[in-house]
Amino acid sequence: MRSKIVAGNWKMNKNLNETKALLEELSGKLPKTEAEVIVAPTFVNLADTARTLESSEIKVAAQNMHFAKSGAYTGEISADMLLNINVDTVIIGHSERRAYFGETDDLLAKKVKAALENNMRVIFCFGEELEERKAGNHFKVVESQLKNGLFDLPADAWQHIVLAYEPVWAIGTGETASPEQAQEMHAFIRKTITEAYNTSIADEVSILYGGSVKPSNANEIFSKPDVDGGLIGGAALKADDFVAIIEAI
Ligand code: PGA
Repeated sequence: MRSKIVAGNWKMNKNLNETKALLEELSGKLPKTEAEVIVAPTFVNLADTARTLESSEIKVAAQNMHFAKSGAYTGEISADMLLNINVDTVIIGHSERRAYFGETDDLLAKKVKAALENNMRVIFCFGEELEERKAGNHFKVVESQLKNGLFDLPADAWQHIVLAYEPVWAIGTGETASPEQAQEMHAFIRKTITEAYNTSIADEVSILYGGSVKPSNANEIFSKPDVDGGLIGGAALKADDFVAIIEAI
């Protein structure tokens, strides 16, 4: 069901002590909100975070997972391991996974399938690179990422999918897509889903924007009709900034 979401992707930041400190500050400052608030700390601190937030409004997500049930995949984490520590939401397809760890559309489609088979919720990330936007190919790129990653799914799987449009040129660069650019792409995403499935799936899916969202621009971005929230990187590492972004929604 479509809802407002603010998710913090902590990436490879915060050791255990820092994680505990940030969670405590965040819990103390969390504003009353109808939006769902999610944090995604690094794997090594995930179990501790899930325990700490057990009775909190704040939910926990993993930043990645492997598609296999178990086995000889050194360094990897399975859906079962996540569920076993009460983490049932996973970010899949982040542009840093695509760019630095060679994750292809095919691999991501397998991960999405595995997560859904395990009744997990997926925050699926995608977005074009700068050259692709400059060349005017951004719609094509996004369409093909959606098609390759998600369009083999049965219609009923979509209730467990959250989309995060993250133009790569706006991630960690301080450069944000304008609210108009975000709205334009989010509307295009809904149109593409309508064509592949139907209007009700397109209308019901939550689409987050990600890429240099900060307290100073969150309000304007979130005010756009097809933007249902944000996936926040850098600004999620400071409680005050993250709280201000939650307040903006
Ligand atoms: P950023 O990262 O907010 O630091 O640009 C967003 C993301 O990578 O999800």
